[in-house]
Amino acid sequence: MCGIIGFTGYIDAKEVLLNGLAELEYRGYDSAGIAVCTERGIETFKNVGKVASLRNEIPAEIQSSCGIGHTRWATHGGVTKTNAHPHSCGKVTLIHNGIIENYHELANELAKEGRIAQSQTDTEVAAMLLDSLYTGDPYAAISEAVKRLTGAYAFCILFADQKDVIYCIRKGSPLVACMAEEGAVIASDMVALLRYSKEYFVLPEYNIAKLTKNSIMVTDLYGNTVTPSMLSVNWDMSAAQKNGFKHYMLKEIHEQPESVRLTIRPRIKRENGFVLPDFSEDKIPDDLFMNAGRIIITACGTAMHAGLVGRILIERMLRIPVTVEIASEFRYADPIMDERSLVIVVSQSGETADTLAALRLAKEKGAKTLAIVNVKGSSISREADYCMYTHAGPEIAVASTKAYTAQLAVFYLIALRFAMAAGKLSDKQVSEYMNELEAVPEKIEKILKKRDVIKELSKRLTPASDLFFIGRGLDYALSCEGSIKLKEITYIHSEAYAAGELKHGTLSLITGGTPVIALGTQKDVFPKLISNVKEVRARGAMVILVTNEANDGDEALEKGICAEHLVIPACKDEFAPFLAAVYLQLIAYYTSSYRGLDVDQPRNLAKSVTVE
Ligand code: M6R
Repeated sequence: MCGIIGFTGYIDAKEVLLNGLAELEYRGYDSAGIAVCTERGIETFKNVGKVASLRNEIPAEIQSSCGIGHTRWATHGGVTKTNAHPHSCGKVTLIHNGIIENYHELANELAKEGRIAQSQTDTEVAAMLLDSLYTGDPYAAISEAVKRLTGAYAFCILFADQKDVIYCIRKGSPLVACMAEEGAVIASDMVALLRYSKEYFVLPEYNIAKLTKNSIMVTDLYGNTVTPSMLSVNWDMSAAQKNGFKHYMLKEIHEQPESVRLTIRPRIKRENGFVLPDFSEDKIPDDLFMNAGRIIITACGTAMHAGLVGRILIERMLRIPVTVEIASEFRYADPIMDERSLVIVVSQSGETADTLAALRLAKEKGAKTLAIVNVKGSSISREADYCMYTHAGPEIAVASTKAYTAQLAVFYLIALRFAMAAGKLSDKQVSEYMNELEAVPEKIEKILKKRDVIKELSKRLTPASDLFFIGRGLDYALSCEGSIKLKEITYIHSEAYAAGELKHGTLSLITGGTPVIALGTQKDVFPKLISNVKEVRARGAMVILVTNEANDGDEALEKGICAEHLVIPACKDEFAPFLAAVYLQLIAYYTSSYRGLDVDQPRNLAKSVTVE
């Protein structure tokens, strides 16, 4: 939530900040602001709306080579110019990502000194606190403030008497930094650094970074110098741009063949004519699963939906009980875990507050932890005992697409690797599955070629106010993902139902013309699914049926059973979610476009949810 950037160096700071904010806008987009050091002191400019509207607020003649910028996703206080960051008090001007939980208490204390906030934000209280503690030594003020603040934060701070210097600290919320020819840059996400460097570091929690034109100095709260380890990315600016696509989401949907390939490739070994999963680069020992009495998968949103697929695969292939828990529930549910539990956390960003808290709880209880994460160096990737990266590259659209299929790829690899190690599947069987997995990217490409069909079909959904996804087994797990994708970007109310459960309540919502997307890719439950399709048809539903070419000889598939029929390329049933997911993503995308909505930045949402 919220994107922040700081720059000090040799080029125009306002351009660096505005470009960086545009790249970070996916993190929050209700208002934006910058503060820059000029000859007149620190000057602040803010506006409600997107970063583009901030540009118009800044006079062209503003000259500065140092400043901080923020794009907001409101938590405390409405969307107003006053509540937009940066916030200032006395000598302090700062930007913040996170939530100060004790801000109310602090505000009351500061009020006794006559310091009254102008905005409704928790952030302004932090600026007031720092100013009250500042006597010319930024380190002393920051260290003291940290003792008094509870909650999560990443701050970039300007002190009026420390020209062209930025101080930063974080707890919980992310901050990454790089030193480049142009100067020193710090931001919430690597995408904003990419113009300047592919080498960067994650600012360790409770460490203070001091950015000057020529250096970034990191120290702990006792003044000891810290040398954070450097990370690098192997993608460039084009990976974080639209590259001719109208929206990031459409581009990211099209990147899936490659991101699945990149995720699988480093985890394959070819041995004795077999293709086998291999986790030596990830350094994941086989006994991680062999010793697990139970497995808990925890995550939020789409990442949790990938876990629903993962559960079925692992249980089916490995025969270990698996549960999937919503991270925000799990952390407060006093879950039963011990050292024989394996907790798998899944997160694209690696910074989702609830998922991170669930991971920390699991560790506290002695469970082993494995993270499936996309963003290198993110908090979850660093804190888990083991980490398997998805290699999806930067995902900018709020609606997650390529991260989901890459997460699925990792779950397939996990299920197969450990089923093989446990002797539940022979090398030959595993190799057959691996051949199927390797064929997935090509099959996704075939689906992408049908995008015009989906575009046309989506016209029929555009006027809908309610829509249902139904399926059984893996198709139900995928229905959950189809439903979130559709509702988050089209604003059409939608629900995912286990197809057999409809008649226990939901069928009363099906009336003439209600669109129902029925997923029927699983052979074992196909006739049952078709019976459920007939039930909704009998109540007038407009059915879009998705089936697996491999099962299309099934006699249950009568002509005229549905209004629209989409077929995924023939595959083993286990692999159908990869392919059917792409249809559902395209349906959500085109329906949102026809409705004239902001596909990449839907209302009220943000990409990375770093608050509870
Ligand atoms: O970064 P994470 O994978 O932890 O994010 C979890 C969810 O916030 C995310 O998947 C969200 O549900 C997406 N917007 C769905 O498209």
